[in-house]
Amino acid sequence: MLSKKIEKALNDQVRVEAESSQIYLAMACWAEVKGLEGVARFMFDQSDEEREHMLKLIKFINERGGHAQISALKAPNVTFNSFQEMFQMLHDHEVLVSESINELVHQSLQEKDYATHNFLQWYVAEQIEEEAMAKSILDKINLIGDDKGGLYLFDRDIQQLTVTSSASSSAV
Ligand code: FEO
Repeated sequence: MLSKKIEKALNDQVRVEAESSQIYLAMACWAEVKGLEGVARFMFDQSDEEREHMLKLIKFINERGGHAQISALKAPNVTFNSFQEMFQMLHDHEVLVSESINELVHQSLQEKDYATHNFLQWYVAEQIEEEAMAKSILDKINLIGDDKGGLYLFDRDIQQLTVTSSASSSAV
């Protein structure tokens, strides 16, 4: 059974994951209209993954005697000055999500809620992967800068990354 405090904290995380999904969906749309199909596909996939993160939390809350709350979301940024800026935002957002997960882990220990603590370990591992991926993409795009040819190749490469990461996450 979840304490009210943990239930509230988990519901806050439901909102964070839902907002993440919307943020990446908006990035996907921007990339798509800019003609970068690979980047768009990557962002659509990221958005789907965030929705899965949200659903996993919702199921857990309801199964543990709580009530998952579906709440209003903050509107995401829909335009960007550059792909560099967009990937910087993705990276910074993942760092924020990690901080939020860490805070939840901390609270679960304070409340001696070991079931929730155990459940959250999946998110801890997932955030390590997501931050690492966001960082490596950001490093690449920063190297490319404004070079159009580089961006074209990057768009092709990122499709490969999407295939690889969905293959590894479906293996989990
Ligand atoms: Fe669900 Fe990208 O964190």
